Amino acid sequence: HPSNVQMEGGSVLERANCRAKGGAPGFKVAILGAAGGIGQPLAMLMKMNPLVSVLHLYDVVNAPGVTADISHMDTGAVVRGFLGQPQLDAALTGMDLVIIPAGVPRKPGMTRDDLFKINAGIVKTLCEGIARCCPNAIVNLISNPVNSTVPIAAEVFKKAGTYDPKRLLGVTMLDVVRANTFVAEVLGLDPREVSVPVVGGHAGVTILPLLSQVKPPCSFTKEETEYLTKRIQDGGTEVVQAKAGAGSATLSMAYAAVKFADRCLKGLRGDADIVECAFIESRVTELPFFATRVRLGRTGVEEIYQLGPLNEYERVGLEEAKKELAESIEKGVSFIRK
Ligand code: NAI
Repeated sequence: HPSNVQMEGGSVLERANCRAKGGAPGFKVAILGAAGGIGQPLAMLMKMNPLVSVLHLYDVVNAPGVTADISHMDTGAVVRGFLGQPQLDAALTGMDLVIIPAGVPRKPGMTRDDLFKINAGIVKTLCEGIARCCPNAIVNLISNPVNSTVPIAAEVFKKAGTYDPKRLLGVTMLDVVRANTFVAEVLGLDPREVSVPVVGGHAGVTILPLLSQVKPPCSFTKEETEYLTKRIQDGGTEVVQAKAGAGSATLSMAYAAVKFADRCLKGLRGDADIVECAFIESRVTELPFFATRVRLGRTGVEEIYQLGPLNEYERVGLEEAKKELAESIEKGVSFIRK
């Protein structure tokens, strides 16, 4: 049984399927790793998104339970659950957007790179499924280390002959969300009024907030710059330590993932001026992948913005970020090529 919902009886399912097919405008979205710490609140928030008509929840454990639970929400999206590898292809077929928070999270003392061994294989398997079943879907990759898993996904898609760099996005939105929050705190503003570009990658020093480009325009002392940069870079570790072994950021990540996915769907719908930061294939630096602001549209990433003017502090940070990023990218690429 793909899920409890589908076990409830033909007529209910048929009507739901009919509604899903029947012209109600909306996108089909799959979440891979939907029963996890991020996956569950992410599934709940996506079920609340009016742009979603069909929501597929895939995991290797507990997908039927989460699906039954979420499916009782009286919002528009039809929810279907898929459990384990044999149901991966069914979960993916026909999807417009695939969000991947599958994989193990950090415990205190671990870096994101320590997760590579387990998560690299998980991401490889899931991306092989995407190449088979929904090669035109937009992919939002959350599983860490993002700096390596995005290159892994790219290599898998290249091997399958389905790679389109415009449709593969590493999710760095949580870094932006944190940056907006922490900067707003320092400025005494409402975080909703603040926009901080965060470039580079998604781990430690590769997370490079461009505080000289904050909107609304403002300036920071040297101490404020150092405090904010470090707090944004270590935001994930702050949560890992506070959870003391129970995992990493899940709720703020689910929020950030939905914020990002919603922007991708608005781009797909054809809305104008959808600009967000994401870790993508890029020529902005000499590295093959880099996070910058990008414009999202009907085909995914439609424009990649340059870094803009950096101050001295940011230029030094950029060099440091590139060194670590180059190694993480290479590690991901060689995991598939070797
Ligand atoms: P979790 O352990 O609570 O959940 C992960 C889920 O993935 C589990 O339900 C597990 O059953 C599932 N899973 C494992 N192998 C799978 C497979 N082969 N196919 C499908 N599902 C599979 O972990 P949590 O806290 O939800 O974190 C997930 C990932 O997200 C971690 O790698 C974590 O490091 C990353 N993360 C990324 C962030 C970002 O900003 N990009 C922020 C926070 C976490």
